[in-house]
Amino acid sequence: MRIDIITAVPELLESPLNHSIMQRAKDKGLLEVHLHNPRNFAKSKSRQIDDYQFGGGAGMVMLIQPLADCIEHLKAERAYDEIIYMTPDGHRLNQQTCNRLSLYKNLLIICGHYKGIDERIREHYVTLEISIGDYVLSGGELAAAVLVDSLGRLLPGVLNDETSALFDSFQDNLLAPPVYTRPADYGGWKVPEILLSGHQRKIEEWRAEQAYQRTKERRPDLLEE
Ligand code: ADE
Repeated sequence: MRIDIITAVPELLESPLNHSIMQRAKDKGLLEVHLHNPRNFAKSKSRQIDDYQFGGGAGMVMLIQPLADCIEHLKAERAYDEIIYMTPDGHRLNQQTCNRLSLYKNLLIICGHYKGIDERIREHYVTLEISIGDYVLSGGELAAAVLVDSLGRLLPGVLNDETSALFDSFQDNLLAPPVYTRPADYGGWKVPEILLSGHQRKIEEWRAEQAYQRTKERRPDLLEE
């Protein structure tokens, strides 16, 4: 998968995308992430990329021209499966959407800053608007990092244990069951006996029941979907 990200603050994305599983995905050639700064497409002498909004009001808006030129430049190179704008008024991200997007070859993600981007970019280029939750970040970069991370770990071959993403919370609309590791007894805090029994079928039944109970207690809304 190739992901192009348009961001005026590339520094905010460099670290999250260069460690751990994201680094492994890139090292294995399964994920490519390219950052593009709209400032490099600004035509004015001052390289301005934002301006006051028409009609007045607080907050700067990202100019249409540098963004549009950057998008056109990228679109001339490849066809995108989705052009995504990270925004708090978008579709709330969930595992289902992550699964769907992880099957694509080319994604373009636009990160807004300041008050947002000129609405005409959304109307004419953007095919999907994504929010990572009902709160406002100071820009789309951290949200884009969340999205890219969630997609990267779904790409076949990225996780060591190929099956492990299948058992994540939210796959099948259930939260994951609790997990334990050594020691079996930590100063009297014991691991559930069943997990030490070696009885694989019973262990799976126990996990399924735990996942269900946990979901019922913490996220009953998931069971209704
Ligand atoms: N940009 C600012 N806030 C955001 C949010 N909650 N989700 C996605 N992008 C954003």
